[in-house]
Amino acid sequence: MQQVKINGALHDIDADPQMPLLWAIRDILGLKGTKFGCGIGACGACTVHMDGQAVRSCVTPLSATAGHEIVTIEGLSSDGTHAVQRAWRAHNVPQCGYCQPGQIMQAAALLKETPKPTDQQITDAMSGNICRCGTYVRIRAAIKSAAETI
Ligand code: FES
Ligand code: FES
Repeated sequence: MQQVKINGALHDIDADPQMPLLWAIRDILGLKGTKFGCGIGACGACTVHMDGQAVRSCVTPLSATAGHEIVTIEGLSSDGTHAVQRAWRAHNVPQCGYCQPGQIMQAAALLKETPKPTDQQITDAMSGNICRCGTYVRIRAAIKSAAETI
């Protein structure tokens, strides 16, 4: 049995400690906002926060979460009003939407650590988050807007 703290609540999860956190989030806890893309840490669709840092939940074993705080897209804000979420809406960022929870979580972690990022810092932080729809221009604009409100 593994205890995992997700979005402020402790959960006892009866699973192999090596099971990816993503499986627990989606298949055991039913939080479907976090997406499965590649499963090898290469696309960013599964990005969540661990102690405020962006991590790829598909390559994070449950055992690595002990004593840490996990936040998923559902827990980023109680009502969708995090600065990044507001900026995403204002810029109509999503197209199909599949990559967007991961993009938002990555951007939120960036702005938490670096509230006024340079273009290069945005590029560096977001380069591991793939968008097959090519919404990169709107993502960048939304991050810059969000940075102005933080
Ligand atoms: S599904 Fe985790 S990085 Fe692609
Ligand atoms: S909005 Fe479709 S993959 Fe990013």
